[in-house]
Amino acid sequence: EKGGFDSFMEKEIHDQPDAVGQTLLGRSDVGGNLMLDELRIDESILRSVDKIVVLACGTSAYAGQVAKYAIEHWCRIPTEVELSHEFRYRDPIVNEKTLVVAISQSGETMDTLMAVRYAREQGAKVVAICNTNGSTIPRESDAVLYTHAGPEIAVASTKAFLAQITAAYLLGLYLAQLRGNKYRDEIADVLADLSEIPAKIQAILDDADKIKQLGADMVNAKSVLYLGRHVGFPVAMEGALKLKELAYIHAEGFAAGELKHGPIALIEEGQPVVVVMPSPRARDSLHSKVVSNVQEVRARGAVTIVIAEEGDTSVEAYSEHVFYVPASPTLLAPLLTTVPLQIFALALASAKGYDVDQPRNLAKSVTVE
Ligand code: F6R
Repeated sequence: EKGGFDSFMEKEIHDQPDAVGQTLLGRSDVGGNLMLDELRIDESILRSVDKIVVLACGTSAYAGQVAKYAIEHWCRIPTEVELSHEFRYRDPIVNEKTLVVAISQSGETMDTLMAVRYAREQGAKVVAICNTNGSTIPRESDAVLYTHAGPEIAVASTKAFLAQITAAYLLGLYLAQLRGNKYRDEIADVLADLSEIPAKIQAILDDADKIKQLGADMVNAKSVLYLGRHVGFPVAMEGALKLKELAYIHAEGFAAGELKHGPIALIEEGQPVVVVMPSPRARDSLHSKVVSNVQEVRARGAVTIVIAEEGDTSVEAYSEHVFYVPASPTLLAPLLTTVPLQIFALALASAKGYDVDQPRNLAKSVTVE
């Protein structure tokens, strides 16, 4: 059942090229048109949406945070991402013009289900992004876009996360197509770039020995900080969550730009800091800004572990450990940069001898509020 791997988690990390590929499959034509027939919501309603609210918990909420950058860019629709359990209890502003996107691997998360019910009572339309056929959240939503990641057995989410980002991107592209805005022309290009992602994930998996070794070498770490910017910020938080869950080590993801507003006080000699580096081609000098952050933490004794784009050899001069992922457009990079962070957390937890499929205190479906 584990396909020759030591754990379901390791198998599911290796399932990721397929998880993304299957989620893309059959949802666009050769001309670059999205075909999301399963979205049974009237097109005129989708065209009149004036706000998107993404509701989810945990890893699924980080997928939503990644998707926010893409959806706002392509659709120009204001998009909020909120933890389901916070949304439900704060008198949120949702109405007939709100499109709620509920993201849930299991489709059974009670917090998200309650938020979906509440949003529908206010007149909002709800699209579920879900990995489990016939589960409760899709049943109670107006429409569902399934992620085709296949069953996820390990408690910590891996392949579902990449599939959720993929599905949310397809939804964003579809809304852009429907609304015929200026990003319409980009859609075919993005679809072509997305179709290359599975092979790029495979390349990361085929070349993972170094990051596994580093994970195993870091068993004595007391705390690991993760920095990212733009779409790299939710990736940093997801990387930190994997380490907390699997290795029971304090880990925290920060927006790199926030460092000097507080977290840099944490840095002392030997503190491991994982950095999700933007592409050197990213807009707005994002790359050089994060390079400065790496230099700031190193000057205070941090040991840096940088996830960078292939060809970005400049990083070798200022980091102890550099791991490369294939080049991709900025918005698609999370589908790649997440993978080494999963492998790192898995290797570290395995070296500690922990049960990576069933971490302590956690359940796969959280069916209580
Ligand atoms: C983290 C993890 C959890 C889930 C969260 C939401 O690895 O698995 O944070 O992502 O409990 O679960 P779903 O997506 O089933 O609603």
